[in-house]
Parts: sequence; structure tokens; C-alpha cells
Amino acid sequence: MKKIFLLLIAFLLLFNNEDDTLIVSKSDDDDIKYIAFTFDDGPSRYTDELLDGLKERDVKATFFLLGCLCERYPETLKRIVREGHQIGNHGYDHRLLTRLKKDEIEFQINKTNEIIKNITGVEPEILRPAYGSYNNRVLKNIKTPIVLWSIDTMDWRYRNSKRIYRNNINKIKDGDIILFHDKFKSSIKGALMLIDELMSEDFEFLTISDLAKVKDIDLENSKEYFRFASSMLNISPSCP
Ligand code: NI
Repeated sequence: MKKIFLLLIAFLLLFNNEDDTLIVSKSDDDDIKYIAFTFDDGPSRYTDELLDGLKERDVKATFFLLGCLCERYPETLKRIVREGHQIGNHGYDHRLLTRLKKDEIEFQINKTNEIIKNITGVEPEILRPAYGSYNNRVLKNIKTPIVLWSIDTMDWRYRNSKRIYRNNINKIKDGDIILFHDKFKSSIKGALMLIDELMSEDFEFLTISDLAKVKDIDLENSKEYFRFASSMLNISPSCP
């Protein structure tokens, strides 16, 4: 008797589930997943190869740049901006900001902004501190939104495009911010392999600002962001 009762409950649950799927029908838009690929520590001698690959695929990305390398690769920096990618500040020479004095933090940020503005005419509106490392004191000195990441591809450790692909392809989901470094050739190949597969799975690649916009998030200064999930507040409560 107990068995029959349990079977009946199981049947009802199953039936209910099916009912739910009928009610919540997905529109085509729901199937698109939005993500942001970000590249740190450049520009480098490999960045142009990455830009070629992104252009071929009509994909936009975000570059967190080092001031000292922008001075070394000004033409690559101009190309990043010209081709519609977003730029962010990553400090002047990759110092750990938490170990610096106030005026040294200001130098890392302001000098980099100044170099980028002189070369491209535009200034970064977002920042990612070197090593993703910050504390309250650092936050107080950063006057823009701080963009970290939700997926570290570990490209800096693997240095192997197939491994980068294999270890990340099943982790990436809607709203993720994905970290790469365009200073390694293997990272560029790995990133492009990931893009090709993810495109076939209905992923769309946006800059950080556009990803925030799509997810209805207003970026606030001195606040840190790891990923962009759609705000639950958009769902109107329906308490009877
Ligand atoms: Ni870095």
C-alpha cells in the first residue's frame, strides 16, 4: 500500500513538472547567453593576432591595459579602440596596489589614464587592479567601477591552448566575466577556440559596459563587480 502511495506521489510530481514546462515557454531571446571576454596585461606583441581573430568573428572584448606597455605599443592600443573594444586601466607597471602609498596608487591609475588618453583620445572608464588585489584603502582611491572576473581560465599557468579550451568550455555560463592574458600566444589561440565553440552554443560576446547594460545593471564608481547576473528585482512579486 505504501509503495502504491509513493508511486502516486511520484506520478503527481512528474505530471506537475510537465505542466510547469508548458506554462514557462522560453522565447528565443532567453536562449542567448551573454558573456564578456577580458584580456589583461597588454598590449603585447601578440595582441594584433588576437585583434585579427576577434575581427574575423565580429566579437567585441575588453582589454585591461598597462600604462608602460601602452607607451611601447601605441599603434596596437589605437587599433583596440578603433575596432570597438572596451579599454580598462590595469595600472602603470602591474604593482600590487595594496602595498602602495596613496600617492603611488594615484600614480599607477592617473599616469595610465593620461597615457591612454594622449594616444587614443579616450580614457578608460573601468579598472581592474593588478592580481585582482585591493582593500578598502585602494577602493577609496579608485574613482571608477572595479571589474574583476568570475572565471579565471588559468591561461597564465597552462600556457597551452587545448588545455585552456578543455578546462573552461563547460564552466562558462550567462553573465560571466572571463579572464585571459593577451601576453601569451597560447592564450590567444585558446580564447579563439573557446569563442568558436561558444558561438555555436548561442553565446554572445559583449564588452563589460554592454554586458552590464544587457543585464540592467548601472555600474557604480568604487564598487567591485565579478559577474553580471540579471537583477531579481525585475521580477514583480505576486503575493496574493
Ligand atoms: Ni594582470
